[in-house]
Amino acid sequence: MTEDWWRHAAIYQIYPRSFADGDGDGVGDITGIRARLPYLRELGIDAVWLSPWYTSPQADAGYDVADYRDIDPLFGTLADAEAFIHEAHDHAIRVIVDIVPNHCSDRHPWFQAALAAGPGSPERELFWFRPGRGEHGELPPNDWQSNFGGPAWTRVPDGQWYLHMFAPEQPDWNWDNPRVREDFERTLRFWLDRGVDGFRIDVADNLVKDPNLPDVATLPDGAVMPWGDQEGVHEIYREWRKIADSYPQRAIFVGEVWLPDPVRFTRFLRPDELHTGFNFAFLSAPWEPAELRRTIDATLSTHALVHAPATWVLSNHDVPRVVTRYGRAQTAHTWESSKTAHVADLALGTRRARAAALLTTSLPGSVYVYQGEELGLPEVQDIPEELLADPRWIRSGHTDRGRDGCRVPLPWSGDAPPFGFGPAGSTPWLPQPPGWAALTAEAEADDPGSTLSLYRSALRIRHAEPDLLGEDMEWLPSSGNVLAYRRGRIGCMINFADPPVPLPVGAQVLLTSEPVDGDLLPTDVAAWFRLP
Ligand code: NOJ
Repeated sequence: MTEDWWRHAAIYQIYPRSFADGDGDGVGDITGIRARLPYLRELGIDAVWLSPWYTSPQADAGYDVADYRDIDPLFGTLADAEAFIHEAHDHAIRVIVDIVPNHCSDRHPWFQAALAAGPGSPERELFWFRPGRGEHGELPPNDWQSNFGGPAWTRVPDGQWYLHMFAPEQPDWNWDNPRVREDFERTLRFWLDRGVDGFRIDVADNLVKDPNLPDVATLPDGAVMPWGDQEGVHEIYREWRKIADSYPQRAIFVGEVWLPDPVRFTRFLRPDELHTGFNFAFLSAPWEPAELRRTIDATLSTHALVHAPATWVLSNHDVPRVVTRYGRAQTAHTWESSKTAHVADLALGTRRARAAALLTTSLPGSVYVYQGEELGLPEVQDIPEELLADPRWIRSGHTDRGRDGCRVPLPWSGDAPPFGFGPAGSTPWLPQPPGWAALTAEAEADDPGSTLSLYRSALRIRHAEPDLLGEDMEWLPSSGNVLAYRRGRIGCMINFADPPVPLPVGAQVLLTSEPVDGDLLPTDVAAWFRLP
C-alpha cells in the first residue's frame, strides 16, 4: 500500500441500506458488510466508500445527519463500525466515509436548539434563518429552489424561514459561523482517530453561500450560483487538508462537485485542497466515441493543470444504472431524463456497460464501481409508486420518480427474493425483481462470461500491470467509430459501430468484454491487449 494509492485506486461504493442485511430487518447494515468483505477482496478493489451510516431519521436515506459521530441503529453501533474498519484493513481494503457538511437533519440537536431559541439568537446563526418577504413575511426570502423541487425555504411557527437546498428536513449549515467549522473539524478527527482512510464530501462546493442571498433571476447569464462554488469554500478545504495530512494514514478527500465548468471544478483539486473529485462530466457523457474522447481529453488536460488524478465514474446511488442508461435511445445522463422510466434494450446496455468497464478501468486515474455495477444490474424502473421512498418523488409533486431504481438491494444468491440480501423470509426495503436470479453474485461467480468475472479479471490485470497504474496515455490512430489508446505497453480499443475492426498487428489479447472471433472487434466490444 503506497502513499499515493488514491492516484490509481479502484474504489467500490457501498450503499449501506442496500448492500447486505445481517439482521433481517430488510435494510442493509454493518454486520452484512463485514460478512461480505471476502467478496470485496476477491473483486480486487483497493478501497470502499460508504454512503452515510450516521444517526439519521433517514428523510434522505441518511444524507440527513442528526449525529455525525455515531452510527444509526439501523446500521449497527459505533463498535460495529470500528470493527469493520479494522477488518477491512485486514483485507487490504481502505475505508472512505461520507461526510455531509452542507446540511444536517432537522433533528440535529443544534437545529432543534435553534428552533427553540427563536429569532436573533446565536443558535439561529448556525443556520440560515431569515424573515420572509411580502407584507406579512409570507413569501420566501428569495427565489432559490430546492434540488428536490419546491422552494429552498421553509417557514417556522414564529414566522422566520430557514434555508434548505435539499429537503425541508435538511437545513443548511451557516459556514460563516466558526462553531460550524470547529464542529466539522472535530468530526473529521473523530473518524480519522478511528482509522478511516478518506472522506467523500457531499455537495462539496455548496457550503459557502453569498451572504446577500441574491435572487437568481436577477443574475446575469453564466453567473456563478450564489449557493455554490464561492471563493470562501476553498479555505475550508485547505484547513481540512492540513488535518488529514497530520494523520499517519494521510487520509484523502473525494469531492462531490457538480460544476459545468471543468476548470472551475479542478480548482477544488489544487495541491492543498481535495485530492480528487467525481468525474460527472464523464458519468453524463453519451455512449458515443467522439463525445467520450472529448470528455476524456478535457478531463485529463484540466486535471493536469493542478496535477490531480482523474476519476472515472459510470454511476452512483443518485443516477440511473449504466446498463439501463446505455440501453436507452438517449444514453447521456441528464436530471430531466432520470425523472421517469424509459424503454431500454438491456442486452445492448449490458454489452456497452461491459465495454465501458474496460474503458474506465484502463484510463489513468482512479475508478469507482457502484455496488451492483460489477453484477451488471439494471435500473429497476417499475417500483410501485406507493413504495417509492426517495424524497424527490413527493417533493416534485409526483413528477420525478427519484433514485430508488438504482438503490434496490443487491442479489447475492438463490433463485428468489431476498436473494441472500437478508435471511430467508426477510423483506428487502425495496422489492427486487424476480428476474435477478441470473444476476446474483453466486450465479455470476462461477460463470467466466459474467460481468462479475469481467470486473474481477480487469481489476486483477490492472493491479498486475504497472503501466495501467501510471499516468501516461496516448491515443492510437483509429477511425471515428473507434477509441484506441495505449498505456505504456498495454492497449485498449473499443469499437462503437459496424463493421468489426481489426486489432493492431501483433496485439496479444489480454481481455475482451465479449467473446471475439480472431482479431476482429465487433460493435460495442472492448479489448485490452499487449502491444508488440
Ligand atoms: C448528494 C447525495 O449523493 C444525494 O444522495 C443526496 O440526496 C444529496 N447530496 C443531499 O445530501
